[in-house]
Parts: sequence; structure tokens; C-alpha cells
Amino acid sequence: MSSAAFANIGSLVTNDESLGDGKIGELGGTGANAAGIVIEHGRVAWVGRSADLPDADSRIDVGGRAIIPGFVDSHAHLMFAGDRAAEFSARMEGKAYTAGGIKTTVAATRAATDEELTENLRRLVAEMHASGITTFETKSGYGLTVDDEARALRISSAHTTETTFLGAHVVPAEYADRGVGSNGRTGADDYVGLVVGEMLAGAAKHSKWIDVFCDRGAFDVDQAREILTAGVAAGLAPRIHANQLSNIGAIELAVELDCASADHCTHLNDKDIELLAGSNTVATLLPGAEFSTRSPYPDARRLIDAGATVALATDCNPGSSYTTSMPFCMAVAVRDMGMTPAEALWSATAGGAAALRRSDVGHLGLGAAADFVILNAPSHQHLAYRPGVNLIGQTWRGGKQIAPNHIDSANHFGFGKQGHSND
Ligand code: NIG
Ligand code: FE
Repeated sequence: MSSAAFANIGSLVTNDESLGDGKIGELGGTGANAAGIVIEHGRVAWVGRSADLPDADSRIDVGGRAIIPGFVDSHAHLMFAGDRAAEFSARMEGKAYTAGGIKTTVAATRAATDEELTENLRRLVAEMHASGITTFETKSGYGLTVDDEARALRISSAHTTETTFLGAHVVPAEYADRGVGSNGRTGADDYVGLVVGEMLAGAAKHSKWIDVFCDRGAFDVDQAREILTAGVAAGLAPRIHANQLSNIGAIELAVELDCASADHCTHLNDKDIELLAGSNTVATLLPGAEFSTRSPYPDARRLIDAGATVALATDCNPGSSYTTSMPFCMAVAVRDMGMTPAEALWSATAGGAAALRRSDVGHLGLGAAADFVILNAPSHQHLAYRPGVNLIGQTWRGGKQIAPNHIDSANHFGFGKQGHSND
């Protein structure tokens, strides 16, 4: 099928202000106001009123449902083995989250076979598709040896172009436990030397991005600068885990190095917010991490009001945020971080694309990738308004349906965005 027309869309979010209302470019409604979209050769070819839909090879009546751009998950850690459910339970009994827990997953990941890692990745990607994610980023960072980091990125790069070298996740135990050597160097110094040397050389060919966990218990600002600069010299683009657990000055570094994204942004001062607002660095917020570590949420409202570009992502990982559900992250962002439903949707789609510096995804403007989600709901607001309910009807990527969800044609959503009963 080279072209398909989708008719009777109750709400079509394009994220293209020239096509519809507001920043999310929304069009549609009931009856004669319903929207339509045509996709051809995997791209958006036409957007307008359902009544004016041009002919296409096939026509699908979505019965008043909403269509939104596919979610762009710009921050995940999918290359791991095992889980840390016991650590989660301990936290819910009052234990604090620390960067040290990463080492548990490092041991499990090193012990896993390529097949086990691949299967785990496939399982998580299937979950992502079922939750409406059509583009995802994933990192290394649970191998922390030259071979294990290269292996993680090699396996990941068969599943996404958005791969990130995170050899600087934590200093692994075999280095952290070393004392100061006769040359005056600490184990951490030696590990940073390995990351910027042999490990980067092995990882670079499978990676698009370089990242550092710049925080208390991980890497300081000087180490992060050295690592990110080495990555850039090797042809990778920088992004950074910044201000999750504390504020050690990582935002200044992110802006100094023109990182595509500063991720977490939980502990920000006024200067950090001003810096982000005046930069090309996206503030990527990861509510799943604060939820699962029972930490205070970042203040999305302040960032947006200051003019910063904000993305929402899952941070899927076995330690701090074991979720692949973007709708869950959006619901938390709306409920507890001061975002409106429209802002949360924009951040989970166009914001994620900005954080990956992609213009082909995250919107449904003409020529964009035909990556979208048909919701079993009349509008995107329902994603936050109906928390915990799976409203993902179908997920399409590049013009093909990729998630085995379904829409029930007998079930129509023609009751309008505000719930009025008509036609
Ligand atoms: O983004 N902050 C660093 N990395 C992950 C957590 C990793 C883990 O606890 O295993 C994060 O939250
Ligand atoms: Fe992370």
C-alpha cells in the first residue's frame, strides 16, 4: 500500500502551527469539522478536512478518534540485564536512591549473552511501540568495559539510529576501589582515561551521541568536560545527564558545549533556567525517575515560562525509572510538574525530536515521517485525564502499523472534544 487516507478524525494534532490551532497545530471536530490525513510512501502527503480527503489506495475511518504524532523518546537505557525490584521496594520503605545502584545492573549486564541482551531490548522496544513511541534513543552505560560498551552499542544500533555512548555512567567497582597510584592518579582518573581513549574508539562507530552522568556520586564537571570534548572530537554529538541528584554546575557545561539536551534538570537555580532558555539545549524532564525514586519533580512550568524548550522522556532503565509508558510520564508532568496537557503532548513528541535534533519526526506537517498514533479517545487530553488506562489504539511508523493494538470499528468517538452529544 503506497498511500492511505484516514478519515473522520475527531482531533488531529500536527505540531505544525500553520495547519491548525495553537502550538500543537490541532484540527478536527465532529461531523463536517472532522479532520483527515493522507500518507504516501511513508510520509505525510496531505492534511485537511475529512470531507475534502483526496483519493488514496486505502481509506480508514477512525470513527472520531484522535490522531497524534508518534512519541519521540529521547532518553532511555534499554541495554541491560536483570532488574532491581528489591531496590525499588527498599526505596519505598525510605531508602534513598544513589548512583551506586547502577553497579548491580553492570554485573548482570556483563554476565549476559548477546542473545539475552538482544531479547531484552526487543521486549522493551515492543513495549514502547505499544505505548505509542515511534522513535527512541538508547544508551550504553551498563557494560563499562571496552568490549561491553562496544557490544551494547553494536546491538542497539541494529534497532535505532539514536545510540548514545555512556561509558561515563559511573566509575566501575574495579576502578573505584583502587587507591591513589604511585603516579598520583586515582582509579577514577584512570577510568576517565579509558573512556576517552580505548573505550571511545571502540564505541564511536556504533554511536551518534556521547553522554556523561554529571552528578554527585558519578562524574564532576571537569571530568564531564573532558569526556564530552573527546566525544565531539571523535565525531559524536554531546548530551548530558545533569542535575538529577544535586546541582554541581552541569547546566553551565551543557550550554557551554551546546549539548543537544540536558537531561533530568531536577535541581535548577534561576541562572540555570536563564541559561537553558537562552540556548539550543533542550531541558529533558524524566518524571518516571522522580516517581520511582520518590524525589521532588522538576518544575516544568518555570522552564516553559522562561522560554526553555522542554522534552519529556521515559528514562526507561531498571534502576530509577522502569517504564516504557510515555502517557504515564505525561500524566505525571501534567498533574505534578505544572504542564498543560497540550504542553505535555508537545514535549513528548516535538520536544523529544528537538532533543535529538531531528526535524523529520515529532510532528505531522507535510513531508514528515508518517509516524503517528490513533488513540482510543476523542482528544489527546485523555492521555493525562485517564491515567493508567491504555488509550493507544494503533501505532504507525513510516506509514506502516507497528503495534498490534487495535481500534474497534464498532466503537465510535464522535461525541466531540468536550463530550457534547451530537451527530
Ligand atoms: O537516568 N542517572 C543516571 N542514570 C539513570 C539511572 C540508572 C540506574 O539507576 O540504573 C537515570 O536515571
Ligand atoms: Fe538516564
